[in-house]
Amino acid sequence: MEIKGCRILITGSAKRVGKVIALSLARFGATVILHAFKSGEAATATASEIEALALYRPPVLSGDISLRETWITMKDEIEKYCGGVDVWVHNASVFSETPFFTTTEGQWQHFMDVNLKGAFFGAQVFGEQMKKKGGGKIIAIGDVAGELIWPSYIPYSVSRAGMHALMKGLAQLLAPKVQVNVVAPGPVLLPEGISEAERQKIVKTIPLQRIGKPEDVAKAVRFLIDSDFLTGQVIRVDGGRRRP
Ligand SMILES: NC(=O)c1ccc[n+]([C@@H]2O[C@H](COP(=O)([O-])OP(=O)(O)OC[C@H]3O[C@@H](n4cnc5c(N)ncnc54)[C@H](OP(=O)(O)O)[C@@H]3O)[C@@H](O)[C@H]2O)c1
Repeated sequence: MEIKGCRILITGSAKRVGKVIALSLARFGATVILHAFKSGEAATATASEIEALALYRPPVLSGDISLRETWITMKDEIEKYCGGVDVWVHNASVFSETPFFTTTEGQWQHFMDVNLKGAFFGAQVFGEQMKKKGGGKIIAIGDVAGELIWPSYIPYSVSRAGMHALMKGLAQLLAPKVQVNVVAPGPVLLPEGISEAERQKIVKTIPLQRIGKPEDVAKAVRFLIDSDFLTGQVIRVDGGRRRP
């Protein structure tokens, strides 16, 4: 599929990795649609950056992705704006450390609601639209944690493993017209406020001996849009990361 002219929704694209993906796709000629939940102001600024480089102002959709209603509203808004999406890049998620013995029911549920239930109902809504239209691509941004399972991040890792499994199943279900793949990054943009010692500890787990960049994720997304004979894959963009 040609990126140029492609209509692409990127969830969680106000800032950080999602923003870099959106800017990169806009630079390659896509019509991008932004989405934010709590970062409305940052999303407006991102829309202005895209307007400056791509000469159109992308719409900013909003809403909590853990609710099915949010997906239906977003699909309706996109239909009005440009008739539908060709590609859905599912980037939004929640991430935090949860020591196993003190993890609460609320924390567990939050990971499952946002990272797994959100992806499920997004896929139900956009997968159906793509299937009816006869084509499309779903690219979910997962995490290498979903493959390796970090012991201090078990609820998060399990939610990512579930999301990877969901996408593998969808690749079968939505074939042959819709391709579904996962990009599973390793560390590409560390949480704000992380110490140098923690940073070095992470670098030691990466054979390529450095933290990646959000642009590495954007490149993998562009590769998956461009490639028409790939489905059901988890592409790890992680410098070869090992379990810490
Ligand atoms: N950063 C890394 O090194 C790294 C490593 C491995 C995997 N990943 C994956 O790559 C993706 C992007 O990483 P990131 O670090 O940029 O992510 P992030 O900053 O932690 O989160 C991305 C966005 O998700 C949105 N979000 C959270 N809860 C939501 C909800 N209930 N409804 C709607 N949106 C919600 C937030 O939007 P608002 O701010 O608008 O609320 C946030 O900006 C994530 O899926 C992450 O798991 C990142």
